[in-house]
Amino acid sequence: MLHSLLAASFAITIATLGSAQVATSYCDATSGICFQGYTDTTMDMTIGVILPPLTPPSDEYIVQMVVPASYGWSGVSMGGQMSNSLLFPFWPNGQEIVLGARWTDDYVLPLAYEGPQITLLPASTVNSTHVNAIFRCQNCTVWEGGSLGSGDLNGTAVLAYVASTTTGVDDPSDVNSSFSEHNYFNFFGLDLSAAHSSSYSQYISGGVGTTTAPSGPSSTPATPSSTSSAPAATQSEYGQCGGNGWTGPTVCATGLTCVVVSPPYYSQCQAAK
Ligand SMILES: *[C@@H]1O[C@H](CO)[C@@H](O)[C@H](O)[C@H]1NC(C)=O
Ligand SMILES: *[C@@H]1O[C@H](CO)[C@@H](O)[C@H](O)[C@H]1NC(C)=O
Ligand SMILES: *[C@@H]1O[C@H](CO)[C@@H](O)[C@H](O)[C@H]1NC(C)=O
Ligand SMILES: *[C@@H]1O[C@H](CO)[C@@H](O)[C@H](O)[C@H]1NC(C)=O
Repeated sequence: MLHSLLAASFAITIATLGSAQVATSYCDATSGICFQGYTDTTMDMTIGVILPPLTPPSDEYIVQMVVPASYGWSGVSMGGQMSNSLLFPFWPNGQEIVLGARWTDDYVLPLAYEGPQITLLPASTVNSTHVNAIFRCQNCTVWEGGSLGSGDLNGTAVLAYVASTTTGVDDPSDVNSSFSEHNYFNFFGLDLSAAHSSSYSQYISGGVGTTTAPSGPSSTPATPSSTSSAPAATQSEYGQCGGNGWTGPTVCATGLTCVVVSPPYYSQCQAAK
């Protein structure tokens, strides 16, 4: 049923993508995480990726996908194609986000793939208009038959993203649910050399979000953003200190300066240079 998913993708390389279809830097106002990502304005889909520093070697990254809540399911392929790629289909189940790793070596429904450790970060939300999935994936840079980019995590990668705008999954409560074929897919190029952040450990450990233990290969319910860590009186390094809609602390701890990183959405406490 999923046979033609990404069938056209084998010919796609970064050179054949238009220059417009290349990831650029953006900072997510809700989580405070700055990603390299791409927004498909036609589909109203944003996909972002950020990795830890290149050294020491690491096998993880954080992915954000923001998609309309009306879509039945959406997903990203870290290898840019359907077969032999690490796939992350996801969908809303009420206020939860259901997301798991999948894999296939053929153009058939991809099945659950064991190995990746997925943790949905607390800034993930489902609201009346959008599903905003932000997840940490450990043991995720190499998989059976492929890797993110060329494997050194410093070259270019082509990622694919898909959506089923019309059809939902068969059992939204089951991370392993079957689902029917997407009716949209596209690609973007990601310069991995620009996708490593020195703030990564803050992103996963509470500097800008809430610590979450690895939860195993299946999904973890998204925590409503209202239960994220309560704002402190002063903000710590790499924490958010301003931006549209920000109601948390606007004063940085001693020695830190509130720097406008992505006007008008996001300002961050940084050590004075
Ligand atoms: C990492 O994932 C691979 C599958 O890609 C799996 O075979 C391996 O056991 C996993 N390693 C750990 C330590 O979980
Ligand atoms: C719903 O979530 C999206 C994505 O996080 C956000 O851009 C939008 O402002 C939210 N809408 C409301 C009404 O909160
Ligand atoms: C999904 O499938 C995988 C692989 O068969 C299994 O390990 C996991 O427990 C399943 N998860 C659920 C929630 O059924
Ligand atoms: C990573 O790529 C960048 C840009 O091409 C380059 O300047 C840098 O030296 C590379 N780093 C390593 C460790 O290869």
